[in-house]
Amino acid sequence: MERAIQIGLLGLGTVGTGVASIIKQHQETLSHQIGRPIEIKRAFVKDLHKSREPWLSSLELTEDVNAIIQDPSIDVVIEVMGGIDETYQYVERALKEKKHVITANKDLMAEYGSTLLHKANDLHCDLFYEASVAGGIPIIRTITDGLSADKLTKIMGIVNGTTNYMLTKMTEEKRTFDDVLDEAQTLGYAEADPTADVDGLDAARKMAILATLAFSTQVYISDVSVKGIRTVSDIDLSYCERFGYTMKLIGLAQKDEGQLEVRVEPTLLPNTHPLANVHNEYNAVLVEGEAMGESMYYGPGAGSLPTATAVVSDLVTVAKNIQRRVHGMSYQTPMFQTTFKQENEIQSPYFIRLHVYDRAGTFAAITTLFAQHDVSFERLIQLPLADQQEQAEVVLITHTTTVAIIKELVAKLKQLEAVADVASYYRVEQKG
Ligand code: NAP
Ligand code: HSE
Repeated sequence: MERAIQIGLLGLGTVGTGVASIIKQHQETLSHQIGRPIEIKRAFVKDLHKSREPWLSSLELTEDVNAIIQDPSIDVVIEVMGGIDETYQYVERALKEKKHVITANKDLMAEYGSTLLHKANDLHCDLFYEASVAGGIPIIRTITDGLSADKLTKIMGIVNGTTNYMLTKMTEEKRTFDDVLDEAQTLGYAEADPTADVDGLDAARKMAILATLAFSTQVYISDVSVKGIRTVSDIDLSYCERFGYTMKLIGLAQKDEGQLEVRVEPTLLPNTHPLANVHNEYNAVLVEGEAMGESMYYGPGAGSLPTATAVVSDLVTVAKNIQRRVHGMSYQTPMFQTTFKQENEIQSPYFIRLHVYDRAGTFAAITTLFAQHDVSFERLIQLPLADQQEQAEVVLITHTTTVAIIKELVAKLKQLEAVADVASYYRVEQKG
């Protein structure tokens, strides 16, 4: 057998430890697939003195990144340290040293993915990033390999485990936002700074990566319209249940007559929708193609071993490419220019919850405003507000309208004398 493929790890935290574990536990089957053993030569960490699992003691650690990037015997660099700017420098330098790179870092790939893929291609290196989206679901390989013959039209998914866990627990156990966020952090699903999870940025980065690949066009994070789950209350969730819907943080990327929309927002899904039944920290991605129709992929979105499995699967691909001497990422660099839909072109029904003054003329004022905007009601209820004697809660779902109209309508509702407050509004996925 040829010499072992030598790995340099950048990071030995949750994912890095999982990668070391899988390489150790599955060594026999991995080397059978590749035709060569795999060895971790060294791991770059921030703190050499941090306490680590005892079985890692045989691994050589370093605080000097050059001990990896400039070591000519290292074939593949696995970046599992996180961060953007410093990490970009390391990955770029590793590629220049003709090392293949694997990363789990969606922040890096959403920001610099195309630049790095072009550099990798020019340098005849591989750069794989399966673990960056939906940890344990091989969705990137599915799009680039499994579905490569189709023209994809839509990607719709739950791609953030933390918020899915939170919404599930808030709905099923009637617990508060803060309580379930603490739990998601304790369980290790949330980012170090969980604002990226709850404000939708983590999901937006993943959707930018998926949309770039699926439509072979450059989608930047700034092209993604983002709304997180901070506004979602137990009251919203109880109305969802009452109306036969489930609230999920949905990432949506769809192409329609050459124009693209990419959005992340809390969305009411009919209970019969396949994504409505994806609970807890699980992720799922529904893909629609012109030829294939719909298919859906489901699995754990985070966690040490599921994420590490994706990283090591990338490593197997790189190792096979080393054996075959075929490298380069040209097939993943964007091919088309695109235009993005404007808000007056993006259509959907909406859920709106209002607090109104419970007196004569209130309904007339509200319905007049809706009629002026050509928005009709699919359903509507009014209930007394327990804690505000002179107010009532009006909850409604509209027929299809546009984002631009709904925003204008909400702004005008807030100005009506009859309306005390627009408590919330969310996109509704149409019933099939
Ligand atoms: P983590 O547990 O915080 O581990 C980070 C590792 O990188 C640690 O070993 C740390 O060293 C090292 N490190 C960080 N900054 C460094 C620096 N400036 N210089 C040297 N070493 C540094 O993070 P993680 O959860 O494994 O996540 C790693 C990456 O995978 C991130 O990009 C994350 O978004 C992505 N990811 C994570 C998951 C998940 O479930 N955790 C899922 C999908 C993708 P010390 O050990 O000395 O502190
Ligand atoms: N914080 C992320 C999530 C981790 O909750 O999905 C996996 O990317």
